[in-house]
Amino acid sequence: MQELKRYRVYDLLKKDSGYLVDSQINVKGWVRTRRGNKNVAFIALNDGSHIHSIQVVVDVKAFGDDELLRNITTGSCISVNGRLVESQGKGQTLEIQASDIHLYGTADPEKYPLQKKGHTLEFLRDIAHLRPRTNTFGAVFRIRHALSYAIHKFFNDNGFFYLHTPIITASDAEGAGAMFRVTTLDPKNLPLNEKGEVDYSKDFFGRETNLTVSGQLEGELGALALSNIYTFGPTFRAENSNTSRHLSEFWMIEPEMAFYDINDNMDLAETFLKYLVAYLLENCLDDLEFLQKMYDGELLGRLQSIVDSRFERLTYTRAIDILERSGHKFEFPVKWGVDLQSEHERYLVEKEFKCPVILTDYPREIKAFYMKQNDDGKTVRAMDVLFPKIGEIIGGSQREEDFDKLSNRINEMGVPREDMWWYLETRKFGTAPHSGFGLGFERLMLFVTGMGNIRDVIPFPRTPQNASF
Ligand code: 4AD
Ligand code: MG
Repeated sequence: MQELKRYRVYDLLKKDSGYLVDSQINVKGWVRTRRGNKNVAFIALNDGSHIHSIQVVVDVKAFGDDELLRNITTGSCISVNGRLVESQGKGQTLEIQASDIHLYGTADPEKYPLQKKGHTLEFLRDIAHLRPRTNTFGAVFRIRHALSYAIHKFFNDNGFFYLHTPIITASDAEGAGAMFRVTTLDPKNLPLNEKGEVDYSKDFFGRETNLTVSGQLEGELGALALSNIYTFGPTFRAENSNTSRHLSEFWMIEPEMAFYDINDNMDLAETFLKYLVAYLLENCLDDLEFLQKMYDGELLGRLQSIVDSRFERLTYTRAIDILERSGHKFEFPVKWGVDLQSEHERYLVEKEFKCPVILTDYPREIKAFYMKQNDDGKTVRAMDVLFPKIGEIIGGSQREEDFDKLSNRINEMGVPREDMWWYLETRKFGTAPHSGFGLGFERLMLFVTGMGNIRDVIPFPRTPQNASF
């Protein structure tokens, strides 16, 4: 086969590709469909660079290799040389008149799981090794990439430094107590101490270690030196929650800023989320339009409304009051002091305010030890950002910078003090007011794609009883 310059399908379908018309080019990709008759074959070829496929037209008689054409079935992988021409047919602008085709790999139509269209998302989860080849997952993963890029771009353009916090930790940042243990000890032959307990001094790190639930505590060390930092990495939670919004392994973006109070923190969260949504509307429109057509007819309107709206800000106490007076029957009853469920959050966002909501000043009993304590002795300077269809998308706070208050709270809540000495030292040496938050990357992906289940916005979901692939 003659060596010709290879173009991605994206390069051929974008608006300014007209100069390539009539030239001899090469494209490579996977066959989505092949149809036609004994005179002409139409192959829809996709290489994952674009939601649309390029049409390859083969003049069967002139081509002369029936055996090869027969093997070009859905899922097979080919390389095509040919002339790029204006399309005669409807639905596409340019197509390729094939002169030469090389078949890299066949896909037996009797066995290829994606032979037919219209599989359910549940079925596709069981073939996570092949689902990136569907239009849906191609779109989702391209958006996932664009969103990651936009996150780094936003922070870089605004003077934040990307800090890599550890994945293996010895502390429990959220006090949630649901962590995955990291160990090299042999479960069949555990070293024991005199009390008959497992002797972790014999373990790999000489102590108990876990996968991190959040990069925040280490992020704070960065902010108290570099002023503005962010982390963006995988976090792990061993809660047994099998919902459409929880993963055992998810990615979190955590900015942490010295000299920010809770209002600065809310301003940043709102600006950040609007920037990200606007970035996708500008750069991923083809994929978003596809998802709107297939899954969520109101997607683009909802995204635009985020960019245009002002996030409503109110205290937890006022929110409870609204929920109590609403007359709405909730599955989980509300009263001051309870942790809000997503049904409550969504009521506030979707029914009461009809825009994103930021709740502040939660009861201290339901929040982590590090949050700044208010003078009322009952609440802390927490802030949660609530989104339509999702509920909580961001959790954050102003941090307690006072050594004594933080130290007392650590004791009260039974946080293992010996594990926290380094964290406490930042309040001893040059402490500063500071704030930060955590954005759940897959929660935002759910929102921007309009997908209904968090398992469908990450390439390889980890949930209870599921870590295949
Ligand atoms: O509210 P969370 O637990 O806050 C923290 O971890 C803080 N240390 C963040 C900070 O202040 N730096 O989690 C933050 C966000 C949630 O709002 C949610 O979007 C997401 O992380 N999240 C999950 N996403 C998917 N699956 C789970 N199991 C999640 N748990 C939290
Ligand atoms: Mg939270």
